Amino acid sequence: MNRNELFRLVRLVEVKDYSTAAHTWRVALYTQAVAEDLNLEPKMIQRLMRGAVLHDFGKIDIPSDILRKPGRLDDEEWKTIRQHPLHGYDRLKRMGEDDPLVLNLVRSHHERLDGSGYPDGLVGEQIPFEAQMFSVIDSFDAMTSIRPYREAHPIQDEARAISELEARAGEWYAPALVERFLRLIRHGKLTWISKHFNDSSSANKLISPDDLTEISALASHHRPEE
Ligand SMILES: [Fe+2]
Repeated sequence: MNRNELFRLVRLVEVKDYSTAAHTWRVALYTQAVAEDLNLEPKMIQRLMRGAVLHDFGKIDIPSDILRKPGRLDDEEWKTIRQHPLHGYDRLKRMGEDDPLVLNLVRSHHERLDGSGYPDGLVGEQIPFEAQMFSVIDSFDAMTSIRPYREAHPIQDEARAISELEARAGEWYAPALVERFLRLIRHGKLTWISKHFNDSSSANKLISPDDLTEISALASHHRPEE
């Protein structure tokens, strides 16, 4: 799958769920930063980023009125939403995706260490590393990003997200990965990402190929020195 195809797939999700838009690209950049911090091979980093970009692809199978519902979801609606990792996994497989890193990340990014996650209720090390890593990133971005229906308070949101990740380390998230991620956050290494497309004017923004070029340029500018 080349960059244009990848872009088209993400656009399909974006037009359905506006809150997904910039989120997708931010989590891809967080993934890159964390993977680089873990000294993973460049090839591996690319594969993880592809998984990050495609993580919510299954949302195209979820009705828009549920995805865009501003208030609380009822039990039935939650049940439907919780199917999105499986939908994404199945669709990508049918489209010929065969990279286990990508498929695992898509399927298991909402699993939790204590088995309370979905869709498979995996426990501890049953959850693939790539999904454990991504769930920390995905949760952080969900807690710190602008949503069309709520006001943002960047400093308070970040503080709350940090304490939530710390409180759930060991229960939902892998402690070593939380520690690693929060170290990058606290050192301000990820601030440029959390600010990206994350203000009230861009809450509903669809990312264009030009934006992507800009994002790539930013990413190489922020890459840690050797
Ligand atoms: Fe998701």
